[in-house]
Amino acid sequence: MTPVVTFFNNKGGVGKTSLVYHLAWMYALRGTRVLIADLDPQANLTALLFDEDDVERLWDRTKVRTIFDPIAQMVDHEGGLGAPHVEPVARNLSALIGTPRLAAFEGELAENWLKCLDGKPGPFKVIKAFWDLVQAGAAHVDAEVVLVDVGPSLGAINRAALVASDHVVMPLGADLFSLAGIENLGKWLADTRMEWSTRRSRAGGLTVPPGDMRAAGYIVSQHAVQSGRPVKAYERWMRRIPGTYADSVLGVAPTTDDPAADANCLGIVKHFRSLMPLAQEARKPIFQLRAADGALGSHAQAAQQAYSDFRDLAERVAIATWRPAPTAASIGG
Ligand SMILES: Nc1ncnc2c1ncn2[C@@H]1O[C@H](COP(=O)(O)OP(=O)(O)OP(=O)(O)O)[C@@H](O)[C@H]1O
Ligand SMILES: [Mg+2]
Repeated sequence: MTPVVTFFNNKGGVGKTSLVYHLAWMYALRGTRVLIADLDPQANLTALLFDEDDVERLWDRTKVRTIFDPIAQMVDHEGGLGAPHVEPVARNLSALIGTPRLAAFEGELAENWLKCLDGKPGPFKVIKAFWDLVQAGAAHVDAEVVLVDVGPSLGAINRAALVASDHVVMPLGADLFSLAGIENLGKWLADTRMEWSTRRSRAGGLTVPPGDMRAAGYIVSQHAVQSGRPVKAYERWMRRIPGTYADSVLGVAPTTDDPAADANCLGIVKHFRSLMPLAQEARKPIFQLRAADGALGSHAQAAQQAYSDFRDLAERVAIATWRPAPTAASIGG
C-alpha cells in the first residue's frame, strides 16, 4: 500500500491547498514519485494545477477523468468501482482530478457510514471508495506517496478521506479560529478512529483501509492572520498552539509554548505576499519562479529562499509521515 498523507483543518483558508501543491512539487523535483488527490469539492488544487481549458476538458462528463466519475458509475449503476483516471502534471507528479460534483457524494457517504454497522459489504464499498481509488491511482504511477487535499468541513466526505489516510498534517494560522480548529479536529479524529475501528471489525472478508489517520504534526502559515493585527496578538496565539495541539490532538501534556521548539511543529511557512499570485499566474510553485515570470530583484531572492524553506519543510513532513525510517543495515551502507 502507498502511504497517504492528508492535509486537514476545519478552519478555511489556512493554506492546505497551497501546501499540498508546493510540497508535491518539491518531492517531485527532488525525485520522489508523487500522486496528489483533490478531494475538496471546491477543486482549488485542480485549478492551481491546470488552466481553464484543461479543467474543462477534464470535467467532460462523458469521460472518466475526475475522481468522482468512477464513484458516480458505481453508485448510479450499482456496479463495481472502475479504475481512476490519473492525469500527468510533470515528471514524477500526477493527480486525481477534483470536481464540484463530488459534493453530491456527501449524502451517500453519510448514509453508508451508518449502514456499515450492519456488516454487509455494500456500504463498506462506498466508504472505502476514496481509498480504493487513491491506492489504484498510486499503483498505476508507482507513486511513493499520495498527498491529499480536502475542504475545511467536518462532513462525510472528509470522514471518508480520513479513513483513507495513514497520516494527517494540520496546517493552521496563529489565531483564535485556528486554535478552535485544532480542538475540533482532535475530537473528530479520535471519534472517527474509534467509529471506524468498530465498523472495520464488522467488514468480514472485505479488504478495508486500516484507517490509521495518525496525527503527524502541524504547520503554521504566517499568511493566515488578519492583516494589520498587532504583532503581540500573533505571538500570543503562537504560544498557545503547542499546548492546544498536544492536549486536543495527542492527549498529552505540552512540553513547550514555542512552536519553533515543538517536535509537533513541522514548519512555519512565511507570508509570500505577491509571490503567491505570481506563482498562480505562472502555474508554477513559487520556488520555480524566474525573471520571465516577473520574479525580479527581491522577488527573485525570495523565490530562491522559498526553495530552501520548502525543501526543509518537505523533509520534515516526509520524516514525520511517509518516509520509512532508515534501518540499521541501510545506515551501515
Ligand atoms: N504562505 C502563503 N503566503 C501568501 N499567501 C498564501 C500562503 N499560503 C496560502 N496563501 C493564499 O491564501 C489563500 C488561501 O490559501 P489556500 O487556498 O491554500 O488555503 P486552504 O486552507 O486550502 O483554503 P480552503 O479552506 O478554502 O480549502 C490563497 O489565496 C493562497 O494563495
Ligand atoms: Mg483548499
